[in-house]
Amino acid sequence: MSRYLIIGKSGQLGTAYRQILPPDSVLAVDQDEVDLSRPADIKLDLNGIRAVLNCAAYTAVDAAETDEDTARRVNADAVAVIAEQCRTAGVPLLHFSTDYVFRGHASAPYPIDAPRGALGAYGRTKQLGEELLEGSGADYLLVRTSWVYAPWGTNFVRTMARLMFQKPELKVVDDQRGRPTHVMGLAERSLALLQGGQRGTFHVTDEGECSWYEFALAIRDTIGAPCSIQPCTSAEFPRPAPRPAYSVLDLSKTTELLGPGKSYQVWLSTMKDGLLAEVK
Ligand SMILES: NC(=O)c1ccc[n+]([C@@H]2O[C@H](COP(=O)([O-])OP(=O)(O)OC[C@H]3O[C@@H](n4cnc5c(N)ncnc54)[C@H](OP(=O)(O)O)[C@@H]3O)[C@@H](O)[C@H]2O)c1
Repeated sequence: MSRYLIIGKSGQLGTAYRQILPPDSVLAVDQDEVDLSRPADIKLDLNGIRAVLNCAAYTAVDAAETDEDTARRVNADAVAVIAEQCRTAGVPLLHFSTDYVFRGHASAPYPIDAPRGALGAYGRTKQLGEELLEGSGADYLLVRTSWVYAPWGTNFVRTMARLMFQKPELKVVDDQRGRPTHVMGLAERSLALLQGGQRGTFHVTDEGECSWYEFALAIRDTIGAPCSIQPCTSAEFPRPAPRPAYSVLDLSKTTELLGPGKSYQVWLSTMKDGLLAEVK
């Protein structure tokens, strides 16, 4: 039986795929086995592999500002190597990218073919990864997503839920707008596209759009936390990496094929019991 090769098995998305796919249909590796920061050393054994799911990335957005070289090797150079090995072996490659490849100055959802122009180092390296993949000749599916959260790992939803029970008041930025994405919806819909034979670039997120402040209000509504949440500007919380002000991804191509996904409010409700168990 041919199997899926998951690269980045311990991240939010790699963990989701290990939950969704039958264990005997999966080979999963982490950084100890395949280190993407050393692209020249990557040698994937693609014998009997049905598709490669590249869930690994250098995702530390702020750290990338002072370590762009490592981020580029992981997010771009390694992608080119993986794509070349997939091309040679005739194995499809599912790869993931980010809303941060866009500048964030738009006022309507970004179409798939909108010009890229990343603001910061992380986005630049992910953008280069996209470009190298597009030029690789591999049989690829590239899925852009945004604001990923999960019942595991480090993410905005789990951090906010914890803080909302620790602090009486929180300030959350209200001048960055995007689409939250529950990792299970991302994993399921991307796999459906792959298995349906779709190739090229797609956008996959939850339905709905919001600012981080509005997302925090939705999290508070979900868990019923006794916390006052105030909107603030990004200028009040300076970070090393610039963030796009507006990075809502246009979902129409994916929706036409798969129908609408769940809203972020519905996905949040599926996490309610787990979040409350964590914070109490
Ligand atoms: N998180 C978001 O909000 C977000 C938004 C838009 C797009 N995306 C994209 O979605 C995809 C999945 O993200 P995620 O949230 O699941 O990321 P994540 O939770 O940060 O996981 C990243 C994974 O990459 C692995 N990794 C990092 N450096 C590596 C290296 N040098 N060699 C091999 N593996 C390495 C990590 O391994 P260790 O655990 O060993 O470090 C981890 O398993 C990525 O392509 C990301 O760029 C994420």
